[in-house]
Amino acid sequence: MKALVIHGPNLNLLGRREPEVYGTTSFEEINERIRSAAADLGMEVEIFQSNSEGALVDAIQRAGDSADGLIINPGAYTHYSIALRDALAGAGLPVIEVHLSNVYAREDFRKVSVIAPVAVGQISGFGPESYILALWALKSIITKGKAK
Ligand code: DQA
Repeated sequence: MKALVIHGPNLNLLGRREPEVYGTTSFEEINERIRSAAADLGMEVEIFQSNSEGALVDAIQRAGDSADGLIINPGAYTHYSIALRDALAGAGLPVIEVHLSNVYAREDFRKVSVIAPVAVGQISGFGPESYILALWALKSIITKGKAK
């Protein structure tokens, strides 16, 4: 069972970027936690980050052939990228949308996700733990064969 975890723009700066919002855990530390939680769950994991929309679309398209499910923190693209939404809708894989911060407790423009309608669900507000909860949820969905 293989999960592809995708981080969108500016997430490579986690730990240094607006620590009052996103915390002080570094991007690499978060990825280590993801790898270790995946191993505990008996899942394979691949992690990809890009700041550019096209590279994210390419990674999602490749995932259709190489992964059983997707976990994505689309960063700011969450709020307006129809290209990412279409790529996710076309991937034929279960998708979990993840955010470190609680996007509903922030600016109004963050309360809109164009990704959520093509995801099985969204996990928002638990810091790095959001990714771990998503791995758990994805494993359960794949096990039940409830692909979306
Ligand atoms: C974010 C929330 C987005 O609104 C923001 O643009 C990000 C990070 C989060 O993880 O909380 O880059 O996706």
